[in-house]
Amino acid sequence: MICIISGTNRPSSRSLEVSQIVKCLFEAQGAECEILDLSRLDFSQLDGHQYSEQKPEAIQSAIEKVNQADGLYIVCPEYNGSYPGILKYFIDHWSYPLSFESRPVAFAGLGGKFGGLRPVEHLQGVFGYRNAYIFPERIFLSNIWSILKDGKILDESLRELLSKQVRGFIRFVQGLQSQNLDANSRLQIESSQ
Ligand SMILES: Cc1cc2nc3c(=O)[nH]c(=O)nc-3n(C[C@H](O)[C@H](O)[C@H](O)COP(=O)(O)O)c2cc1C
Repeated sequence: MICIISGTNRPSSRSLEVSQIVKCLFEAQGAECEILDLSRLDFSQLDGHQYSEQKPEAIQSAIEKVNQADGLYIVCPEYNGSYPGILKYFIDHWSYPLSFESRPVAFAGLGGKFGGLRPVEHLQGVFGYRNAYIFPERIFLSNIWSILKDGKILDESLRELLSKQVRGFIRFVQGLQSQNLDANSRLQIESSQ
């Protein structure tokens, strides 16, 4: 299962619209996927104790989706030159190393002129530090407010790029799985030893 993370909790977020487009592209390739929408998680239940202690059930179940995903696909908007604080807050509650180590991850950024280049590069730093497998093809959706209308990307070449990236990410995940290099395969091997 591919877990698509819509990287903000802003109501009526464009990231969620892009996540839905990406979900359709995965499904068109026969890949099972699910959107994890941060706006549906109640972060007010976190008060600082849950980094190490038990997490509220809904947050824990979201983290488990991450921990069981064959791959993560993060749709990330640019907020003040980086990715939204709520996404970092969520990531900081993930399990280490389970959530990150050897887990394939792909990114799409969205924003103004630079199309989310900065937040995606910041996320690559985090996931690289935590030894995830970063898919090198990234998508940047510039001037998102003019290219996204009624849940559709207007620019055909961008739609094709996104579709190519999704197809490439599926092959990337399958390639890692075929060599037992991805997080889930490694966990399976460890648990059978
Ligand atoms: C708090 C906030 C900060 C933003 N900062 C930037 C920014 O630094 N650079 C940029 O290009 N766009 C910025 N934007 C524009 C967003 O990237 C754009 O509105 C995008 O649609 C936001 O994603 P969302 O709709 O999923 O919330 C900002 C938007 C918000 C809400």
